[in-house]
Amino acid sequence: MKTSLAIPVHKTASSRLAQTDFSNLVFGKTISDHMFVADYKNGEWTDLRIEPYAPLQLNPSNAALHYGQSIFEGMKAYKNEEGEILIFRADANWKRMNESAERMCMPSLPEEVFMEGMLQLLDLDRDWVPTAKGASLYIRPFMFATDDYIGVKPSDTYKFIIFTCPVGNYYSKPVSVKVETKFTRATEGGTGAAKTAGNYAASLYPALQAQKAGYDQLLWTDGKSHSNIEESGTMNVMFKINGTLITAPLHTGTILKGITRNSVVQLANDWNQPIEERFLSVSELKEALENGTLEEAFGTGTAATIAHIAKIHIDGKDYVLPEKPADAFSHKVLAALDGIKYGSQKDPHNWIIKL
Ligand code: COI
Repeated sequence: MKTSLAIPVHKTASSRLAQTDFSNLVFGKTISDHMFVADYKNGEWTDLRIEPYAPLQLNPSNAALHYGQSIFEGMKAYKNEEGEILIFRADANWKRMNESAERMCMPSLPEEVFMEGMLQLLDLDRDWVPTAKGASLYIRPFMFATDDYIGVKPSDTYKFIIFTCPVGNYYSKPVSVKVETKFTRATEGGTGAAKTAGNYAASLYPALQAQKAGYDQLLWTDGKSHSNIEESGTMNVMFKINGTLITAPLHTGTILKGITRNSVVQLANDWNQPIEERFLSVSELKEALENGTLEEAFGTGTAATIAHIAKIHIDGKDYVLPEKPADAFSHKVLAALDGIKYGSQKDPHNWIIKL
């Protein structure tokens, strides 16, 4: 892909590439050399630049630190056998970032700023894209308020940054989840569909309780009656019951519009795999676990890709899911997504941007 916007580049004098152990990547701990930065002031995005990844200077009265006007995205880039960089569905992340921005009273980002910033950053740091099987470059765009003002109002100024991290798997093994019926991730009218920092902050305490009880993550239920499954930790969730996939619908505004979720829905439709976008109730899930009709359960997310769920806790009881057969839908969809992302298979929906 050709890039056109002139973005000044200040290169690092001391690359960390040579000291990086690519065989031992812990998700989110290793950051590449550079970052793309843009500032929003007087109603426009200005001062676009690429500079060495470095600490930011913030005043203690920075509005984002106090009132949480902060949103982010997550995408991944892969390297194919020819050494080209393949970026998965970045346009969908740009659109979702602007939906989050609108909900959080933040300015929208022109497509050019988001895309060109990302492409030029990736081009400069292309040696940071790992080549090992299952590894990728996680791309983290985020925007936050920069007004120095502790009155409660939308900030007038913002910063947008993209940095990247070479990563391995987010979950290294199948996960165990606990159905949460006390705490709530999102309610109708709230911010559940926005990828905003506060949603993640609010999830930490309940998730920690689940982890102390021996589970990896929560299965969130709706905030009104706690009777319907919504999503899990950092992922959307899907269940295959009696041959049909079921995943929560998006219309309530309580579910994050996952791009991996959407990709799985599209592939299921391509393959005539029955899929229903509707709420699955906790009692339906329990019944399916008890009568053996639950065939598969898995999370979908950029970081997690397809995360198999091996155990589900409901109302004081652990249910261990049966071993998945080799032809399980989740194996097939993971292989198809990987094939598209690493360039070994056709890309029927034009999801890849090549650099
Ligand atoms: C992603 O999958 O990109 C996420 O946003 C998860 C992240 C919070 C680790």
